[in-house]
Amino acid sequence: MDRFWARLHAYGKATVDERAAAVLRRLEEEDRRDRADGTPRERRLRSVTPEVGAFLNLLVKIAGARRILEVGTSGGYSTVWLATAAGETGGHVTTLEIDPAKIERARRSLSDAGMDDLVTIVEGDGRQTLATLDGPFDLAFLDTEKELYLDFLEPLVRLLRPGGLLVADNLLSHADDLAGFREAAESHPELECVLIPIPRGELLCRKRGG
Ligand SMILES: C[S@@+](CC[C@H](N)C(=O)[O-])C[C@H]1O[C@@H](n2cnc3c(N)ncnc32)[C@H](O)[C@@H]1O
Repeated sequence: MDRFWARLHAYGKATVDERAAAVLRRLEEEDRRDRADGTPRERRLRSVTPEVGAFLNLLVKIAGARRILEVGTSGGYSTVWLATAAGETGGHVTTLEIDPAKIERARRSLSDAGMDDLVTIVEGDGRQTLATLDGPFDLAFLDTEKELYLDFLEPLVRLLRPGGLLVADNLLSHADDLAGFREAAESHPELECVLIPIPRGELLCRKRGG
């Protein structure tokens, strides 16, 4: 492991408490097992990597983000990283998930991590539920089906405060699938974006103004 990853891992380890760490370890193990044993894609957690989790956590703290939005909860792995940081900024995470089985797993994760009060899970198709939310948000994390990313771009930009951050996962691991989204985000008049080369690729955008 080179020094950059070692540093991010060390940061991640130091920032989560024992309860959250146990939940993260369990979800990492479940994700690994599901990927290995051929569990169908729709049932797998497909969590972000620990490096991305630590990166998101640090970003929330750097930005002092309090109103945090996530699209794609799955079993709550990235949510636990975000909520850990929200605990420090005095913030709250609102996370959107369509799959009832994943919602149940996420509820268990958050309860086991002692984070029920830090997170609201909004159930249903995020393309509809997003429209019911009051902004503005300080930071939004997009991690849903790749063919839906473009549908979420405009609604998320609208919900961000000027100066707010949008982070989108998988821009390198799914570069072809997300080429249209990347082009739309990078040329969006209200966004300024850079691609962070954490292995799966995080597109980090700031909404102009603020
Ligand atoms: C890649 S997984 C998210 C992983 C999660 N962020 C983590 O790191 O633990 C994508 C999730 O998006 C959910 N999803 C798919 N379509 C959705 C939609 N229209 N609205 C809300 N969630 C959706 C899937 O059920 C799946 O749980």
